[in-house]
Amino acid sequence: MKHSYYSKMKLFAVLSVFFLSILRSNCQVITTASNQITGKYTIPESPEWVKKAVFYQIYPQTYYDSNGDGIGDLQGIIMKLDYIKSLGVDAIWLNPFFESPFCDAGYDVSDYYKVAPRYGSNDDAKRLFDEAHKRGMKVIFDYVISYSSIEHPWFQASAKQETNKYTNWYIWNDNTWLNVPKEYQDAFIKGYGRRNGQYMRNFYYCQPALNFGFALPDTNYKWQLPTNHPDIIAMREELKKMLRFWMDMGADGFRADMAGALVKTANVQGNEQFFNTHEDATKKFWQEIREIFRKDYPQAFMVSEWSYPKDALQNCFHADFFHWFDGYNDLFQKESWRILNGYSEGHSFFDVEGKGNIKNFLDKYMEQYTPTKDKGYICLPLGNHDNARLGNKRSDVDLEIIYAFGLTMPGTPFLYYGNEIGMRQLPTSWPQVEGAYRPRNGARTPMQWSTAANLGFSTANAEKLYLPVDTAKDAPNVASEEKNPNSLLNKTRRLIALKHTEPALANYAEFIPLFAKENTYPFIYARAKDKNVVLVLLNPSGKNTTAEFELNIPYSKTVLLAGKDLKLVKKGNKITVNMIGQSYSIIRLE
Ligand code: GLC
Ligand code: CA
Repeated sequence: MKHSYYSKMKLFAVLSVFFLSILRSNCQVITTASNQITGKYTIPESPEWVKKAVFYQIYPQTYYDSNGDGIGDLQGIIMKLDYIKSLGVDAIWLNPFFESPFCDAGYDVSDYYKVAPRYGSNDDAKRLFDEAHKRGMKVIFDYVISYSSIEHPWFQASAKQETNKYTNWYIWNDNTWLNVPKEYQDAFIKGYGRRNGQYMRNFYYCQPALNFGFALPDTNYKWQLPTNHPDIIAMREELKKMLRFWMDMGADGFRADMAGALVKTANVQGNEQFFNTHEDATKKFWQEIREIFRKDYPQAFMVSEWSYPKDALQNCFHADFFHWFDGYNDLFQKESWRILNGYSEGHSFFDVEGKGNIKNFLDKYMEQYTPTKDKGYICLPLGNHDNARLGNKRSDVDLEIIYAFGLTMPGTPFLYYGNEIGMRQLPTSWPQVEGAYRPRNGARTPMQWSTAANLGFSTANAEKLYLPVDTAKDAPNVASEEKNPNSLLNKTRRLIALKHTEPALANYAEFIPLFAKENTYPFIYARAKDKNVVLVLLNPSGKNTTAEFELNIPYSKTVLLAGKDLKLVKKGNKITVNMIGQSYSIIRLE
Protein backbone atom coordinates (compact mmCIF):
# COMPACT_ATOMS: atom_id res chain seq x y z
CA MET A 1 0.00 0.00 0.00
CA LYS A 2 0.85 3.66 -0.58
CA HIS A 3 4.47 3.16 0.34
CA SER A 4 6.42 6.31 -0.18
CA TYR A 5 3.51 8.18 1.33
CA TYR A 6 3.94 6.18 4.48
CA SER A 7 7.66 6.71 4.54
CA LYS A 8 6.98 10.44 4.53
CA MET A 9 4.64 9.89 7.40
CA LYS A 10 7.31 8.04 9.27
CA LEU A 11 9.64 10.98 8.94
CA PHE A 12 6.80 13.21 10.04
CA ALA A 13 6.24 11.03 13.09
CA VAL A 14 9.89 11.20 14.09
CA LEU A 15 10.02 14.96 13.61
CA SER A 16 6.84 15.53 15.55
CA VAL A 17 8.15 13.55 18.50
CA PHE A 18 11.23 15.76 18.42
CA PHE A 19 9.28 19.02 18.32
CA LEU A 20 6.87 17.79 20.91
CA SER A 21 9.62 17.13 23.37
CA ILE A 22 10.80 20.72 22.91
CA LEU A 23 7.27 21.96 23.46
CA ARG A 24 6.82 19.88 26.56
CA SER A 25 10.04 21.06 28.07
CA ASN A 26 8.65 24.61 27.83
CA CYS A 27 5.44 23.42 29.46
CA GLN A 28 3.53 24.96 26.64
CA VAL A 29 0.20 23.67 25.46
CA ILE A 30 -1.38 24.65 22.18
CA THR A 31 -5.16 24.79 22.21
CA THR A 32 -7.55 25.07 19.31
CA ALA A 33 -8.03 28.67 18.28
CA SER A 34 -11.70 29.58 17.88
CA ASN A 35 -14.33 27.72 19.82
CA GLN A 36 -17.37 29.90 19.26
CA ILE A 37 -20.52 27.97 18.47
CA THR A 38 -22.71 29.91 16.02
CA GLY A 39 -25.09 27.25 14.66
CA LYS A 40 -24.30 28.51 11.17
CA TYR A 41 -23.60 26.18 8.30
CA THR A 42 -23.77 25.90 4.55
CA ILE A 43 -25.23 22.79 3.02
CA PRO A 44 -22.90 21.54 0.29
CA GLU A 45 -24.56 20.73 -3.00
CA SER A 46 -25.56 17.07 -2.81
CA PRO A 47 -28.59 14.83 -3.21
CA GLU A 48 -31.12 15.35 -0.43
CA TRP A 49 -30.72 11.85 1.02
CA VAL A 50 -26.98 12.30 1.50
CA LYS A 51 -27.37 15.08 4.03
CA LYS A 52 -27.95 12.73 6.95
CA ALA A 53 -26.86 9.49 5.33
CA VAL A 54 -24.85 6.72 6.98
CA PHE A 55 -23.21 4.18 4.65
CA TYR A 56 -22.43 0.53 5.18
CA GLN A 57 -19.54 -0.98 3.22
CA ILE A 58 -19.92 -4.54 1.98
CA TYR A 59 -17.12 -6.72 0.72
CA PRO A 60 -19.12 -9.04 -1.56
CA GLN A 61 -16.80 -12.04 -1.39
CA THR A 62 -17.18 -12.38 2.36
CA TYR A 63 -20.63 -11.10 3.28
CA TYR A 64 -22.97 -14.02 2.71
CA ASP A 65 -22.64 -17.08 0.49
CA SER A 66 -26.08 -18.05 -0.86
CA ASN A 67 -25.06 -21.10 -2.90
CA GLY A 68 -22.49 -22.84 -0.73
CA ASP A 69 -19.43 -22.39 -2.97
CA GLY A 70 -17.47 -20.67 -0.21
CA ILE A 71 -17.61 -17.16 -1.72
CA GLY A 72 -20.11 -14.47 -0.90
CA ASP A 73 -22.40 -13.32 -3.72
CA LEU A 74 -25.00 -10.72 -4.70
CA GLN A 75 -27.92 -13.00 -3.92
CA GLY A 76 -26.39 -13.41 -0.46
CA ILE A 77 -26.42 -9.64 0.01
CA ILE A 78 -30.04 -9.50 -1.14
CA MET A 79 -30.90 -12.10 1.49
CA LYS A 80 -29.34 -9.89 4.17
CA LEU A 81 -30.94 -6.59 3.14
CA ASP A 82 -33.43 -6.66 5.99
CA TYR A 83 -30.57 -7.01 8.44
CA ILE A 84 -28.73 -4.12 6.78
CA LYS A 85 -31.86 -2.01 6.91
CA SER A 86 -32.22 -2.86 10.61
CA LEU A 87 -28.89 -1.17 11.27
CA GLY A 88 -30.50 2.12 10.33
CA VAL A 89 -28.10 2.84 7.49
CA ASP A 90 -29.23 4.69 4.38
CA ALA A 91 -26.92 3.28 1.76
CA ILE A 92 -24.51 0.52 0.84
CA TRP A 93 -21.13 0.78 -0.86
CA LEU A 94 -20.27 -2.45 -2.63
CA ASN A 95 -16.65 -3.27 -3.40
CA PRO A 96 -16.07 -4.34 -7.05
CA PHE A 97 -18.30 -7.10 -8.36
CA PHE A 98 -17.07 -7.10 -11.97
CA GLU A 99 -15.51 -9.83 -14.03
CA SER A 100 -11.88 -10.11 -12.99
CA PRO A 101 -8.94 -12.51 -12.71
CA PHE A 102 -8.82 -11.33 -9.05
CA CYS A 103 -5.18 -10.44 -8.86
CA ASP A 104 -6.26 -7.60 -6.55
CA ALA A 105 -9.55 -9.01 -5.28
CA GLY A 106 -11.58 -7.55 -8.14
CA TYR A 107 -9.88 -4.15 -8.33
CA ASP A 108 -8.47 -5.50 -11.58
CA VAL A 109 -11.48 -5.43 -13.88
CA SER A 110 -11.46 -7.47 -17.07
CA ASP A 111 -15.04 -6.67 -18.15
CA TYR A 112 -16.60 -3.46 -16.90
CA TYR A 113 -20.04 -4.46 -18.15
CA LYS A 114 -20.37 -7.81 -16.46
CA VAL A 115 -20.81 -9.10 -12.94
CA ALA A 116 -18.22 -11.77 -12.13
CA PRO A 117 -19.91 -15.19 -12.31
CA ARG A 118 -18.80 -16.01 -8.79
CA TYR A 119 -21.00 -13.14 -7.57
CA GLY A 120 -23.93 -13.91 -9.87
CA SER A 121 -25.21 -12.12 -12.95
CA ASN A 122 -26.10 -8.62 -14.09
CA ASP A 123 -29.70 -9.54 -13.30
CA ASP A 124 -28.68 -10.13 -9.71
CA ALA A 125 -27.08 -6.69 -9.60
CA LYS A 126 -30.30 -5.17 -10.90
CA ARG A 127 -32.33 -7.11 -8.35
CA LEU A 128 -30.01 -5.97 -5.61
CA PHE A 129 -30.53 -2.32 -6.60
CA ASP A 130 -34.31 -2.84 -6.80
CA GLU A 131 -34.58 -4.74 -3.52
CA ALA A 132 -32.49 -2.13 -1.71
CA HIS A 133 -34.70 0.62 -3.14
CA LYS A 134 -37.82 -1.18 -1.95
CA ARG A 135 -36.40 -0.91 1.55
CA GLY A 136 -35.55 2.76 1.14
CA MET A 137 -31.81 2.19 0.78
CA LYS A 138 -29.34 3.27 -1.91
CA VAL A 139 -26.49 1.28 -3.44
CA ILE A 140 -23.26 2.71 -4.81
CA PHE A 141 -20.74 0.66 -6.75
CA ASP A 142 -16.97 0.83 -7.14
CA TYR A 143 -15.88 2.74 -10.27
CA VAL A 144 -12.38 1.46 -10.84
CA ILE A 145 -11.00 3.40 -13.78
CA SER A 146 -7.47 4.53 -13.11
CA TYR A 147 -6.41 1.13 -14.47
CA SER A 148 -7.93 -2.10 -15.71
CA SER A 149 -6.87 -5.71 -15.39
CA ILE A 150 -3.97 -6.90 -17.43
CA GLU A 151 -6.48 -9.38 -18.88
CA HIS A 152 -8.91 -6.74 -20.09
CA PRO A 153 -9.32 -7.04 -23.89
CA TRP A 154 -8.38 -3.36 -24.22
CA PHE A 155 -5.02 -4.02 -22.61
CA GLN A 156 -4.52 -7.24 -24.53
CA ALA A 157 -5.04 -5.28 -27.76
CA SER A 158 -2.84 -2.46 -26.51
CA ALA A 159 0.00 -4.95 -25.91
CA LYS A 160 -0.02 -6.04 -29.56
CA GLN A 161 2.86 -5.23 -31.86
CA GLU A 162 0.50 -3.85 -34.52
CA THR A 163 -1.02 -0.43 -33.98
CA ASN A 164 -4.76 -0.61 -33.27
CA LYS A 165 -7.62 1.30 -31.66
CA TYR A 166 -6.33 0.52 -28.14
CA THR A 167 -2.63 1.21 -28.68
CA ASN A 168 -2.84 4.51 -26.79
CA TRP A 169 -5.42 3.51 -24.20
CA TYR A 170 -2.62 2.56 -21.79
CA ILE A 171 0.68 4.27 -21.04
CA TRP A 172 3.58 2.61 -22.83
CA ASN A 173 6.99 4.02 -23.53
CA ASP A 174 8.47 3.21 -26.94
CA ASN A 175 11.61 1.30 -26.05
CA THR A 176 11.85 -1.76 -23.82
CA TRP A 177 15.53 -1.11 -23.10
CA LEU A 178 15.52 2.58 -22.25
CA ASN A 179 14.92 3.76 -18.73
CA VAL A 180 11.89 5.99 -18.32
CA PRO A 181 12.24 9.42 -16.61
CA LYS A 182 13.06 9.24 -12.94
CA GLU A 183 9.66 10.23 -11.57
CA TYR A 184 7.98 7.30 -13.28
CA GLN A 185 10.74 4.77 -12.87
CA ASP A 186 9.34 2.30 -10.40
CA ALA A 187 5.96 2.22 -12.14
CA PHE A 188 7.00 0.71 -15.47
CA ILE A 189 6.96 -3.01 -16.27
CA LYS A 190 9.12 -4.54 -19.00
CA GLY A 191 8.70 -7.64 -21.08
CA TYR A 192 4.96 -8.01 -21.46
CA GLY A 193 3.61 -9.13 -24.85
CA ARG A 194 5.04 -8.33 -28.24
CA ARG A 195 4.87 -4.58 -28.11
CA ASN A 196 8.26 -2.94 -27.87
CA GLY A 197 7.89 -0.85 -24.74
CA GLN A 198 7.16 -0.87 -21.05
CA TYR A 199 3.74 -0.24 -19.60
CA MET A 200 2.90 1.81 -16.57
CA ARG A 201 1.13 0.13 -13.68
CA ASN A 202 -1.06 2.07 -11.28
CA PHE A 203 -0.73 -0.31 -8.37
CA TYR A 204 0.15 -4.00 -8.73
CA TYR A 205 1.81 -5.22 -11.95
CA CYS A 206 -1.58 -6.62 -13.03
CA GLN A 207 -3.18 -3.15 -13.01
CA PRO A 208 -1.92 -1.22 -16.05
CA ALA A 209 -2.77 2.48 -15.90
CA LEU A 210 -5.43 3.62 -18.33
CA ASN A 211 -4.04 6.55 -20.28
CA PHE A 212 -5.48 9.88 -19.15
CA GLY A 213 -2.38 11.58 -20.53
CA PHE A 214 0.32 13.78 -19.05
CA ALA A 215 -0.35 17.24 -17.67
CA LEU A 216 2.89 18.58 -19.11
CA PRO A 217 4.10 16.06 -21.66
CA ASP A 218 7.87 16.08 -22.03
CA THR A 219 8.56 16.69 -25.69
CA ASN A 220 11.65 14.47 -25.48
CA TYR A 221 9.30 11.56 -24.92
CA LYS A 222 6.76 11.31 -27.70
CA TRP A 223 4.90 8.56 -25.83
CA GLN A 224 3.75 11.07 -23.20
CA LEU A 225 0.46 12.12 -24.75
CA PRO A 226 -1.37 15.34 -23.89
CA THR A 227 -4.65 14.99 -22.02
CA ASN A 228 -6.65 16.09 -25.06
CA HIS A 229 -5.26 13.46 -27.42
CA PRO A 230 -8.18 11.99 -29.44
CA ASP A 231 -7.43 8.42 -28.28
CA ILE A 232 -7.51 9.56 -24.68
CA ILE A 233 -10.78 11.39 -25.23
CA ALA A 234 -12.19 8.22 -26.80
CA MET A 235 -11.11 6.15 -23.80
CA ARG A 236 -12.65 8.65 -21.38
CA GLU A 237 -15.91 8.62 -23.32
CA GLU A 238 -16.01 4.82 -23.08
CA LEU A 239 -15.58 5.05 -19.30
CA LYS A 240 -18.48 7.49 -19.12
CA LYS A 241 -20.62 5.14 -21.15
CA MET A 242 -19.81 2.33 -18.74
CA LEU A 243 -20.75 4.56 -15.81
CA ARG A 244 -24.14 5.24 -17.39
CA PHE A 245 -24.64 1.52 -17.91
CA TRP A 246 -24.65 0.84 -14.15
CA MET A 247 -26.46 4.07 -13.29
CA ASP A 248 -29.22 3.27 -15.76
CA MET A 249 -29.51 -0.19 -14.26
CA GLY A 250 -30.35 1.43 -10.93
CA ALA A 251 -27.14 2.23 -9.06
CA ASP A 252 -27.30 5.36 -6.90
CA GLY A 253 -23.77 6.53 -7.50
CA PHE A 254 -20.24 5.31 -7.05
CA ARG A 255 -17.05 5.31 -5.05
CA ALA A 256 -14.12 6.20 -7.29
CA ASP A 257 -11.09 4.07 -6.70
CA MET A 258 -7.75 5.96 -6.65
CA ALA A 259 -9.55 9.01 -7.99
CA GLY A 260 -6.54 11.30 -7.88
CA ALA A 261 -4.41 8.97 -9.95
CA LEU A 262 -5.66 9.65 -13.47
CA VAL A 263 -3.44 12.23 -15.19
CA LYS A 264 0.32 11.87 -14.74
CA THR A 265 2.40 14.79 -13.52
CA ALA A 266 5.98 15.83 -14.01
CA ASN A 267 8.16 16.04 -10.89
CA VAL A 268 5.97 13.84 -8.71
CA GLN A 269 8.06 10.88 -7.72
CA GLY A 270 7.30 7.16 -7.79
CA ASN A 271 4.16 5.92 -6.08
CA GLU A 272 3.09 9.49 -5.37
CA GLN A 273 1.87 9.44 -8.97
CA PHE A 274 -0.86 7.09 -7.84
CA PHE A 275 -2.60 9.35 -5.39
CA ASN A 276 -0.81 12.60 -4.79
CA THR A 277 -0.67 14.55 -8.02
CA HIS A 278 -3.14 17.40 -7.30
CA GLU A 279 -3.58 17.66 -11.04
CA ASP A 280 -6.15 20.07 -12.52
CA ALA A 281 -6.51 17.85 -15.55
CA THR A 282 -7.58 14.97 -13.26
CA LYS A 283 -10.10 17.27 -11.59
CA LYS A 284 -11.40 18.22 -15.00
CA PHE A 285 -12.39 14.63 -15.76
CA TRP A 286 -14.31 14.34 -12.49
CA GLN A 287 -15.92 17.74 -13.04
CA GLU A 288 -17.26 16.42 -16.32
CA ILE A 289 -18.73 13.43 -14.50
CA ARG A 290 -20.22 15.72 -11.85
CA GLU A 291 -21.89 17.67 -14.65
CA ILE A 292 -23.35 14.44 -16.04
CA PHE A 293 -24.69 13.67 -12.58
CA ARG A 294 -26.20 17.15 -12.19
CA LYS A 295 -28.00 16.78 -15.48
CA ASP A 296 -28.96 13.12 -15.65
CA TYR A 297 -28.62 11.64 -12.16
CA PRO A 298 -29.32 14.48 -9.73
CA GLN A 299 -30.15 12.07 -6.90
CA ALA A 300 -26.91 10.11 -7.24
CA PHE A 301 -23.80 10.40 -5.10
CA MET A 302 -20.08 10.42 -5.96
CA VAL A 303 -17.39 9.76 -3.35
CA SER A 304 -13.68 9.49 -4.00
CA GLU A 305 -10.77 7.57 -2.67
CA TRP A 306 -8.52 10.60 -3.03
CA SER A 307 -7.72 11.50 0.56
CA TYR A 308 -7.23 15.11 -0.28
CA PRO A 309 -10.58 16.85 0.17
CA LYS A 310 -9.20 20.19 -1.01
CA ASP A 311 -8.80 18.63 -4.46
CA ALA A 312 -11.61 16.12 -4.47
CA LEU A 313 -14.31 18.55 -3.35
CA GLN A 314 -13.45 21.21 -5.95
CA ASN A 315 -16.63 20.69 -7.88
CA CYS A 316 -15.60 17.06 -8.45
CA PHE A 317 -17.04 14.77 -5.75
CA HIS A 318 -19.77 15.18 -3.14
CA ALA A 319 -17.49 13.52 -0.60
CA ASP A 320 -13.94 12.28 -0.17
CA PHE A 321 -12.47 9.48 1.94
CA PHE A 322 -9.80 11.01 4.12
CA HIS A 323 -7.79 8.10 5.47
CA TRP A 324 -4.51 7.93 3.55
CA PHE A 325 -2.89 10.49 5.81
CA ASP A 326 -1.03 10.24 9.07
CA GLY A 327 -3.79 11.94 11.06
CA TYR A 328 -6.04 8.95 10.41
CA ASN A 329 -3.34 6.69 11.82
CA ASP A 330 -3.17 8.97 14.84
CA LEU A 331 -6.78 8.17 15.56
CA PHE A 332 -6.90 4.43 15.13
CA GLN A 333 -3.73 2.70 13.96
CA LYS A 334 -0.61 4.50 15.02
CA GLU A 335 1.00 1.40 16.55
CA SER A 336 3.08 -0.65 14.10
CA TRP A 337 1.37 -3.83 15.34
CA ARG A 338 -1.95 -2.26 14.60
CA ILE A 339 -1.34 -0.82 11.14
CA LEU A 340 0.67 -3.91 10.20
CA ASN A 341 2.27 -2.51 7.06
CA GLY A 342 5.44 -1.08 8.54
CA TYR A 343 4.56 2.56 7.96
CA SER A 344 3.54 3.92 11.30
CA GLU A 345 4.76 3.81 14.87
CA GLY A 346 3.40 5.44 17.98
CA HIS A 347 0.17 5.51 19.94
CA SER A 348 -3.41 5.79 18.72
CA PHE A 349 -5.65 8.35 20.39
CA PHE A 350 -8.37 5.71 20.55
CA ASP A 351 -6.64 3.31 22.90
CA VAL A 352 -7.15 2.46 26.55
CA GLU A 353 -3.48 3.17 27.35
CA GLY A 354 -4.18 6.86 26.78
CA LYS A 355 -0.93 7.88 25.10
CA GLY A 356 -2.30 9.27 21.85
CA ASN A 357 -2.40 12.83 20.58
CA ILE A 358 -5.68 14.10 19.14
CA LYS A 359 -4.02 17.32 17.96
CA ASN A 360 -1.99 15.44 15.36
CA PHE A 361 -5.25 14.40 13.79
CA LEU A 362 -7.21 17.57 14.36
CA ASP A 363 -4.70 19.99 12.85
CA LYS A 364 -4.54 17.98 9.63
CA TYR A 365 -8.29 17.57 9.60
CA MET A 366 -9.07 21.26 10.08
CA GLU A 367 -6.63 22.17 7.34
CA GLN A 368 -8.88 20.27 4.92
CA TYR A 369 -12.24 20.75 6.64
CA THR A 370 -12.20 24.53 6.96
CA PRO A 371 -11.78 25.32 3.24
CA THR A 372 -14.05 22.50 2.04
CA LYS A 373 -16.98 22.36 4.45
CA ASP A 374 -19.23 24.37 2.12
CA LYS A 375 -18.25 22.29 -0.87
CA GLY A 376 -18.66 18.68 0.16
CA TYR A 377 -18.17 16.06 2.83
CA ILE A 378 -15.14 14.45 4.39
CA CYS A 379 -15.50 10.75 5.21
CA LEU A 380 -13.44 9.29 8.04
CA PRO A 381 -14.25 5.64 7.44
CA LEU A 382 -14.98 3.34 10.38
CA GLY A 383 -12.74 0.65 8.93
CA ASN A 384 -12.40 -0.56 5.37
CA HIS A 385 -11.00 -3.41 3.29
CA ASP A 386 -7.51 -1.85 3.02
CA ASN A 387 -6.83 -1.34 6.70
CA ALA A 388 -6.61 -3.62 9.70
CA ARG A 389 -9.93 -3.98 11.51
CA LEU A 390 -10.60 -1.35 14.14
CA GLY A 391 -11.22 -4.39 16.33
CA ASN A 392 -7.51 -5.09 16.53
CA LYS A 393 -6.92 -5.82 20.23
CA ARG A 394 -9.81 -3.59 21.17
CA SER A 395 -12.80 -4.37 23.35
CA ASP A 396 -16.42 -3.57 22.52
CA VAL A 397 -16.14 -0.66 24.94
CA ASP A 398 -13.22 0.75 22.93
CA LEU A 399 -15.12 0.26 19.69
CA GLU A 400 -18.25 1.93 20.92
CA ILE A 401 -16.26 5.07 21.77
CA ILE A 402 -14.75 4.99 18.27
CA TYR A 403 -18.20 4.71 16.68
CA ALA A 404 -19.49 7.54 18.89
CA PHE A 405 -16.73 9.63 17.34
CA GLY A 406 -17.17 8.43 13.75
CA LEU A 407 -20.92 8.86 13.80
CA THR A 408 -20.86 12.38 15.24
CA MET A 409 -18.06 13.97 13.24
CA PRO A 410 -19.10 16.05 10.22
CA GLY A 411 -19.33 14.35 6.83
CA THR A 412 -20.72 11.05 5.65
CA PRO A 413 -19.87 8.11 7.92
CA PHE A 414 -19.00 4.74 6.37
CA LEU A 415 -19.14 1.66 8.57
CA TYR A 416 -17.25 -1.43 7.38
CA TYR A 417 -19.26 -4.67 7.51
CA GLY A 418 -18.78 -6.66 10.69
CA ASN A 419 -17.53 -3.71 12.71
CA GLU A 420 -21.04 -3.31 14.09
CA ILE A 421 -20.59 -6.61 15.93
CA GLY A 422 -16.93 -6.01 16.82
CA MET A 423 -15.30 -8.40 14.34
CA ARG A 424 -11.60 -8.72 15.05
CA GLN A 425 -8.46 -8.38 12.99
CA LEU A 426 -7.45 -11.99 12.25
CA PRO A 427 -3.93 -13.42 12.20
CA THR A 428 -1.56 -12.25 9.48
CA SER A 429 -0.45 -15.87 9.13
CA TRP A 430 -3.80 -16.55 7.43
CA PRO A 431 -3.87 -16.84 3.62
CA GLN A 432 -3.04 -13.66 1.75
CA VAL A 433 -5.48 -14.30 -1.08
CA GLU A 434 -5.96 -12.17 -4.17
CA GLY A 435 -3.50 -9.44 -3.25
CA ALA A 436 -4.71 -9.17 0.32
CA TYR A 437 -1.27 -8.92 1.89
CA ARG A 438 -1.36 -8.14 5.58
CA PRO A 439 -3.13 -6.40 7.15
CA ARG A 440 -5.80 -6.62 4.46
CA ASN A 441 -6.25 -10.40 4.75
CA GLY A 442 -7.12 -10.15 8.43
CA ALA A 443 -9.82 -7.54 7.74
CA ARG A 444 -11.61 -9.30 4.88
CA THR A 445 -12.70 -12.50 6.60
CA PRO A 446 -16.29 -13.75 6.39
CA MET A 447 -19.11 -11.97 8.17
CA GLN A 448 -20.08 -13.74 11.38
CA TRP A 449 -23.78 -14.39 11.37
CA SER A 450 -24.33 -17.06 14.01
CA THR A 451 -22.71 -19.96 15.84
CA ALA A 452 -23.55 -22.37 12.97
CA ALA A 453 -20.84 -23.94 10.80
CA ASN A 454 -18.56 -21.26 9.28
CA LEU A 455 -20.30 -18.88 11.65
CA GLY A 456 -23.28 -18.93 9.35
CA PHE A 457 -21.43 -17.42 6.39
CA SER A 458 -21.51 -20.45 4.09
CA THR A 459 -22.46 -24.09 3.99
CA ALA A 460 -19.27 -24.99 2.09
CA ASN A 461 -16.52 -27.09 3.62
CA ALA A 462 -14.29 -24.86 5.68
CA GLU A 463 -11.32 -25.33 3.33
CA LYS A 464 -13.35 -23.95 0.43
CA LEU A 465 -14.01 -20.62 2.08
CA TYR A 466 -12.58 -17.49 0.46
CA LEU A 467 -10.81 -16.80 3.77
CA PRO A 468 -11.16 -18.71 7.04
CA VAL A 469 -13.68 -17.53 9.61
CA ASP A 470 -12.66 -16.38 13.08
CA THR A 471 -11.83 -19.49 15.11
CA ALA A 472 -12.03 -17.86 18.55
CA LYS A 473 -14.50 -19.47 20.94
CA ASP A 474 -15.98 -16.08 21.69
CA ALA A 475 -16.01 -14.82 18.10
CA PRO A 476 -18.75 -12.18 17.94
CA ASN A 477 -21.79 -12.98 15.81
CA VAL A 478 -25.01 -11.28 14.80
CA ALA A 479 -27.47 -13.85 16.22
CA SER A 480 -26.08 -13.63 19.76
CA GLU A 481 -25.81 -9.86 19.70
CA GLU A 482 -29.38 -9.49 18.45
CA LYS A 483 -30.55 -11.02 21.73
CA ASN A 484 -28.64 -8.65 23.95
CA PRO A 485 -30.01 -5.10 24.13
CA ASN A 486 -26.61 -3.89 25.30
CA SER A 487 -24.53 -5.59 22.65
CA LEU A 488 -22.22 -3.56 20.45
CA LEU A 489 -24.61 -4.26 17.59
CA ASN A 490 -27.53 -2.64 19.39
CA LYS A 491 -25.44 0.22 20.72
CA THR A 492 -24.18 0.90 17.21
CA ARG A 493 -27.77 0.95 15.97
CA ARG A 494 -28.66 3.56 18.58
CA LEU A 495 -25.69 5.70 17.59
CA ILE A 496 -26.63 5.47 13.90
CA ALA A 497 -30.21 6.46 14.75
CA LEU A 498 -28.97 9.73 16.28
CA LYS A 499 -27.79 10.83 12.84
CA HIS A 500 -31.41 10.96 11.78
CA THR A 501 -33.04 12.32 14.90
CA GLU A 502 -30.57 15.08 15.87
CA PRO A 503 -30.49 18.03 13.48
CA ALA A 504 -27.11 19.05 14.95
CA LEU A 505 -25.62 15.76 13.75
CA ALA A 506 -26.51 16.32 10.11
CA ASN A 507 -23.49 15.71 7.94
CA TYR A 508 -23.19 19.42 7.15
CA ALA A 509 -23.88 20.87 10.63
CA GLU A 510 -21.27 23.09 12.23
CA PHE A 511 -18.28 21.46 13.92
CA ILE A 512 -16.47 23.25 16.74
CA PRO A 513 -13.65 21.62 18.72
CA LEU A 514 -13.95 22.68 22.35
CA PHE A 515 -11.21 20.74 24.07
CA ALA A 516 -8.37 19.21 22.06
CA LYS A 517 -4.93 19.43 23.58
CA GLU A 518 -1.56 17.91 22.89
CA ASN A 519 -1.23 14.48 24.50
CA THR A 520 -4.31 15.07 26.62
CA TYR A 521 -7.64 13.35 27.08
CA PRO A 522 -10.59 13.83 26.55
CA PHE A 523 -11.51 15.22 23.15
CA ILE A 524 -14.62 17.40 23.23
CA TYR A 525 -16.47 19.09 20.40
CA ALA A 526 -19.81 20.62 19.53
CA ARG A 527 -22.02 20.08 16.52
CA ALA A 528 -24.61 22.71 15.86
CA LYS A 529 -27.39 23.59 13.49
CA ASP A 530 -29.21 26.82 14.21
CA LYS A 531 -30.31 26.54 17.84
CA ASN A 532 -29.68 22.78 18.03
CA VAL A 533 -26.46 21.98 19.80
CA VAL A 534 -24.95 18.62 20.64
CA LEU A 535 -21.78 18.11 22.67
CA VAL A 536 -19.61 15.05 22.16
CA LEU A 537 -17.14 14.12 24.90
CA LEU A 538 -14.74 11.24 24.32
CA ASN A 539 -12.34 9.69 26.79
CA PRO A 540 -11.00 6.47 25.26
CA SER A 541 -8.13 6.32 27.76
CA GLY A 542 -8.40 4.09 30.81
CA LYS A 543 -7.79 7.00 33.19
CA ASN A 544 -10.25 9.41 34.72
CA THR A 545 -9.74 12.90 33.46
CA THR A 546 -10.96 16.46 33.92
CA ALA A 547 -11.44 19.08 31.26
CA GLU A 548 -12.24 22.73 31.37
CA PHE A 549 -13.52 24.51 28.30
CA GLU A 550 -15.38 27.59 27.19
CA LEU A 551 -18.96 27.41 26.05
CA ASN A 552 -20.32 30.59 24.49
CA ILE A 553 -23.99 29.60 24.38
CA PRO A 554 -26.61 29.53 27.13
CA TYR A 555 -28.60 26.39 27.97
CA SER A 556 -30.92 25.40 30.77
CA LYS A 557 -30.90 21.65 30.51
CA THR A 558 -28.74 18.78 29.20
CA VAL A 559 -30.22 15.64 27.66
CA LEU A 560 -28.10 12.51 27.43
CA LEU A 561 -28.39 10.96 23.97
CA ALA A 562 -25.81 8.17 24.33
CA GLY A 563 -23.00 7.04 26.60
CA LYS A 564 -22.50 7.86 30.27
CA ASP A 565 -24.35 10.60 32.04
CA LEU A 566 -22.07 13.27 33.37
CA LYS A 567 -22.26 16.64 35.00
CA LEU A 568 -21.25 19.84 33.30
CA VAL A 569 -20.28 22.28 36.02
CA LYS A 570 -20.82 25.80 34.79
CA LYS A 571 -19.12 28.98 36.01
CA GLY A 572 -19.76 31.94 33.74
CA ASN A 573 -18.92 30.62 30.32
CA LYS A 574 -16.44 28.06 31.69
CA ILE A 575 -17.50 24.44 31.90
CA THR A 576 -15.69 21.83 33.98
CA VAL A 577 -16.35 18.17 33.47
CA ASN A 578 -15.00 14.97 35.03
CA MET A 579 -14.92 11.89 32.86
CA ILE A 580 -14.23 8.40 34.05
CA GLY A 581 -11.86 6.18 32.10
CA GLN A 582 -13.14 4.68 28.84
CA SER A 583 -16.31 6.66 28.62
CA TYR A 584 -18.11 8.97 26.24
CA SER A 585 -21.19 11.15 26.30
CA ILE A 586 -23.31 12.63 23.58
CA ILE A 587 -25.39 15.39 25.07
CA ARG A 588 -28.00 17.75 23.69
CA LEU A 589 -28.13 21.22 25.17
CA GLU A 590 -31.58 22.71 25.58
C1 GLC B 1 -7.80 1.00 -3.85
C2 GLC B 1 -8.54 -0.17 -3.25
C3 GLC B 1 -7.57 -1.25 -2.90
C4 GLC B 1 -6.84 -1.65 -4.14
C5 GLC B 1 -6.14 -0.43 -4.72
C6 GLC B 1 -5.50 -0.72 -6.03
O1 GLC B 1 -6.93 1.58 -2.93
O2 GLC B 1 -9.27 0.25 -2.14
O3 GLC B 1 -8.21 -2.34 -2.32
O4 GLC B 1 -5.88 -2.64 -3.86
O5 GLC B 1 -7.08 0.60 -4.96
O6 GLC B 1 -6.38 -1.33 -6.86
CA1 CA C 1 -21.45 -18.06 -3.43
